[in-house]
Amino acid sequence: MNSILNYESVRLDNDELVLLDQTKLPNEINILRLTDIKDIWQAIYKLQVRGAPAIGVAAAFGLYISAMKIESNDYDEFFNGVHEAKEYLNSARPTAVNLSWALNRMEKVISDNPDKNVSELKKLLKSEAIAIKSEDSEMCRKIGEHGLTLIKNGDGILTHCNAGQLATSKYGTALAPIHLGRERGMNFHVFCDETRPLLQGARLTAFELTADGVDTTLICDNMASQVMKNGWINAVFVGCDRVAANGDACNKIGTSGVAVLAKYYKIPFYVFTPTSTIDMSIENGDKIIIEQRPSNEVTETWYKKRMAPEDVKIYNPAFDVTDHELITAIITEHGIIRPPYSESLKKLF
Ligand code: MRU
Repeated sequence: MNSILNYESVRLDNDELVLLDQTKLPNEINILRLTDIKDIWQAIYKLQVRGAPAIGVAAAFGLYISAMKIESNDYDEFFNGVHEAKEYLNSARPTAVNLSWALNRMEKVISDNPDKNVSELKKLLKSEAIAIKSEDSEMCRKIGEHGLTLIKNGDGILTHCNAGQLATSKYGTALAPIHLGRERGMNFHVFCDETRPLLQGARLTAFELTADGVDTTLICDNMASQVMKNGWINAVFVGCDRVAANGDACNKIGTSGVAVLAKYYKIPFYVFTPTSTIDMSIENGDKIIIEQRPSNEVTETWYKKRMAPEDVKIYNPAFDVTDHELITAIITEHGIIRPPYSESLKKLF
C-alpha cells in the first residue's frame, strides 16, 4: 500500500489541487493541498508537479479552482477572469505544450457556451478538467500497449528523465510499456540516466521502477555511451514535451545526446508522446521555446556547499530538441508513427 505507485501525482479533492510533491522524492512523501493560484503557479514552476501531461492536468484543475473563486455572475466578467488566470498559469513554464493545450481546452468550454449561466459554466469546467485527467490515463495505457510491441521480455532499455507514472495520470508514456509489461509478468533491464541537473532519473524514475519490481540500474548521464557499447541496450525510450510538425522532439536536456549515441550504436530510439504533446502549429524544433532555469540548480541544489566558482557563467537550458532524423518512431495512443514524420503526423491529425 505504501508503494509510490499507489499515489496519484495530481488530483482534485474538495476543490483543492492535491499534488505529490516531486521535489521531495524519494526521501519524503509530501502531499500539497493548494487553492491559491500563486501557489499553483509556483508548484508548476518549481517542479513540485512536473512532466508534460501532469502539468497540463494540474493547470486544468488550477484553472477550475480559480474560476470557482470568481464571484461575478456576468458572463463577460467571468470569461475575462478565467482568461486572466489562464494566461497567468500558462506563464509558469514555456516548453511543454500540454500546459497551454489543457488551459485552452478549459477556456473553450466557456467560449463554446455563451448561453450558460456562470454556475453551469463552473460545473462544466470541473467536468472538463476531470476528463482531461482520465483521458490522460487512457492515452498512457494505449501508448504502453503500442510500446510493448517494440520490445521482448528481458530486453535492456535506456531512459532519460522521468516519463513515468509520476509525470502523468497513470503508467507514464515512455515507462508505460515497462509498467504494463510488469502487470503481465514480464521484466526488462532498465538503465536510468540520472538526468542532471534536477535528477529526475535518479530520484523519480529509479524510485518508481524499483517500486514496481523492475530490474533497474541508475547511471550518470555520461555513462550512456558505455552501457550502449557494452551491448546492454536494445532500445531507448524517452518522453517528450513538444513534438513539431516535422517530428523534431523536445525533451529533457540531454535527450538529443542520447539519440546521437543511439544512432552510432545502431540502437532504436523511440519517442513516446500523447497527441496532446504534438504541436502541429510549429513547423520544426527551432521554433520551440526552451525554458532556461536558475543557475543554482547546476551549482548548488544537490551540494552542501556551492561546488563551482562564484564568478563562472552558467548555462542551464531545461530541454533540448532531438532532430527527427535520429528518431526511429514516435509512439502515440493511436499507434506507432514512422518517418517521414511531416507526412505521417499530418495523416494522424
Ligand atoms: O522538467 P520536467 O521534469 O518537467 O521534464 C519532464 C520531461 O522532460 C519528460 O520527459 C516529459 O515531460 C514527458 S513526461 C511523460
